[in-house]
Amino acid sequence: MTHKILLLAGDGIGPEIVGAAEQVLQALKERHGLACEFEHALMGGCAIDAHGDSLPEATLAAARAADAILLGAVGGPKWDKVERAIRPERGLLRLRSELGFYCNLRPAVLYPALADASSLRPEVVAGLDVMIIRELTGGIYFGQPRGIEQDADGHRRGFNTLVYRDDEIERIARSGFEIARKRNGRLCSVDKANVLEVSELWREVVDGLAPEYPDVELSHMYVDNAAMQLVRAPKQFDVLVTTNMFGDILSDLAAMLTGSIGMLPSASLDAASKGLFEPVHGSAPDIARQGVANPLATILSASMMLRYTLDEGALADRVEAAVGQVLAAGVRTADIAGASERTVGTQEMTAAVIAALDAV
Ligand code: IPM
Ligand code: MG
Repeated sequence: MTHKILLLAGDGIGPEIVGAAEQVLQALKERHGLACEFEHALMGGCAIDAHGDSLPEATLAAARAADAILLGAVGGPKWDKVERAIRPERGLLRLRSELGFYCNLRPAVLYPALADASSLRPEVVAGLDVMIIRELTGGIYFGQPRGIEQDADGHRRGFNTLVYRDDEIERIARSGFEIARKRNGRLCSVDKANVLEVSELWREVVDGLAPEYPDVELSHMYVDNAAMQLVRAPKQFDVLVTTNMFGDILSDLAAMLTGSIGMLPSASLDAASKGLFEPVHGSAPDIARQGVANPLATILSASMMLRYTLDEGALADRVEAAVGQVLAAGVRTADIAGASERTVGTQEMTAAVIAALDAV
């Protein structure tokens, strides 16, 4: 079976890093038996410029038809003033929502070679391997009603709605239990049940599932404490499962623990494990087109695609081992280099990973 992979380069450094991941996938195709074909489409600011919409119909149709989607990054200052309804971020949220990619996996893994790059002491983060599971198609990001209104007394009022249905909570909680079961068997559900009714329901539903997963040790934590614990003693966590907005915030925090947000991949899966794969970092317009962006988060996102959607776990292992080997050999892009280390650009890093694919 030939996998159909849709590549959405997006904006800023997007074309450079997606180009890098495509080269890696191409090498797997030529030398390691990956059966795939690539298609490209526009999404984000570039799609606004070309079609007046950050997620054009043709792109959405291509996304529906594809087996898996690899996205670079969208947005940039050029489109910050664009009307809210068609902004690059909106296109991304629509793609997640229209394709039902509710389960967002954001691993925060510290490569041994990068222990010094973290802002925390090496002993606090050495060996860190946390999986954050973020609910991605519900909660305050999508709840109705939302808007900005004029009040009768002349004030303007902005409002959003934080809402979860029990079935939405159940399916993401199940993802949490299933993934914890395949890792170290510990699941921490993060909420704000001391204040929010929606969190009270969240906790009740998660607790209700626990008897079905007796091999998983379940705990609960308030989100403020979770933020504190993540910087105090991050290695206490195995898998965290949480809402859309809490997950947005905690995953950036966890990313920084590893020293570089330029290293972290993510997967967003639907109920059938079809997925959208993207680096956790943004479009970095300040370094776009300079050939210096770190392609590893995108290459590792392609690896998650191989593992979670295309059922090519052995190839995913190969890519991850290649990245580990390149880092251990001291190859560094600027964002992960120490003060006196020599740095390489996007292309040289990509070539090093591709060469390592055959050596691991
Ligand atoms: C993320 C980003 C997005 C989000 C933005 C760009 C809409 O911050 O993927 O974490 O908030 O989900
Ligand atoms: Mg975010």
